[in-house]
Order: sequence, then C-alpha cells, then structure tokens
Amino acid sequence: MVVGTMADLATFATLLSKLLKPMHQIINNIHSYNRYLILVALVFVLYRSWTGWKGNKPFEKSDNTASVALLGLAHLQLLLGLIQYFGTSTIVQSAMADMGAAMKTPWLRYFAVEHLMMMILGIACIQVGRTLSKKATDDNSKHRKLAIWTSAATLLIVGGLAMKGLLFSTVAAVNGGM
Ligand code: HEM
Repeated sequence: MVVGTMADLATFATLLSKLLKPMHQIINNIHSYNRYLILVALVFVLYRSWTGWKGNKPFEKSDNTASVALLGLAHLQLLLGLIQYFGTSTIVQSAMADMGAAMKTPWLRYFAVEHLMMMILGIACIQVGRTLSKKATDDNSKHRKLAIWTSAATLLIVGGLAMKGLLFSTVAAVNGGM
C-alpha cells in the first residue's frame, strides 16, 4: 500500500516536471510580450496625465480607461511573475537552492531579488496612483496624482529592465541562452 503510494507520487512528480517546462515557456512568453503593452500604457498615461495636469485639462473618459488598462496589465504581469517565481522558473529555483552563492551571481541575484523588488514596487506605484487619482475630487489633482505616481512606476520598471538590457530583449538573447 505504502509502496503503491510512493510509486504514484513518483509518477506524479515526473509528470509534473515534464509539464512544468512547456508551461513555463507559455507563461514566460506572455510575461515577456505583456511588458510591451505595459510600456505603451505607461507612455500613454504619462503623456495624458502630465499634459492634463500642466494644461489644466478635464479628466476625460479615455484618461480613466487608460489608467484602468495600465493597472489591469500590471496585475496580470504580477500574477504571471509570481507563478514563475514560486513555481516554474528554473533560474529562480537555482537561486533558491543556494541563496548565498546566488547573491554573487548577477543573473541569479537579478531574478531572485532585484527584478522582484523593483517590479513589485513599480506595480505598487501604479496601484497607488490609480487609487489616489480615483479618490481625488477635482480633475487637476486626478491628473497630478496619476502623473507623479506613474512617473515613479516608469522609473522603477524601465530602470529595472534596462539595467539588464531587458527593455526590448529577452534573457536568452541578452545572455546567450541562459
Ligand atoms: C511591470 C512588471 C514586470 C515587467 C515589465 C517584467 C518583465 C520581465 C521580462 C522582460 C522578463 C524576461 C522575459 C524573457 O526573457 O523573455 C521577465 C522575466 C521574469 N520575471 Fe518579470 N516583469 C515584471 C514583474 C515581475 C514580477 C512582479 C515578478 C515576480 C513576482 C517577476 C518574475 C519574473 C521571473 C521569475 C522571470 C524569469 C523567468 C525565467 O526566465 O526563468 N516579474 N520579466
């Protein structure tokens, strides 16, 4: 009975590890392409909010839609990132196996710590900007809250990707197939 359970467990583990790789590739691809949608949404919200704030323009329906879209894309990215971080990413798994050594290996440190921290903070800024802008009572402060918090988010996200050449590229391309 116990032997049967052990064998079942081993079969399940083998099946899971076989599924993990293609699953990771799909999730990683969506995470990678979604970055471009986020970058476009950031630029659009930045443009609308800064010109709206400085030009004292009304806060229009398209301003609201753009900030909701940016937040939705950011949440999707967070979810896909968490699945990779705690489940499918072999880079993170290698880092977790020996965190001490990973801290001395730039790519392992990047995905185990730097990417995680900078991107989560960036997404948090997008969330705060959206929440404060929604709560604001006049159009100028709606634009101002979005402009300031989206600028902070852009610095963190763009900076966090650019530091490893990942703004318009992939880990494999930058690193020769890691
Ligand atoms: C706005 C937020 C984010 C952006 C723009 C972003 C962007 C990226 C990019 C461009 C890559 C490289 C993809 C490739 O090589 O094709 C990547 C990989 C990765 N991201 Fe993110 N990311 C974000 C948030 C997050 C978060 C919050 C987490 C974790 C909770 C995360 C975890 C990961 C992991 C683990 C990988 C490496 C997967 C692997 O190749 O093994 N990301 N991300």
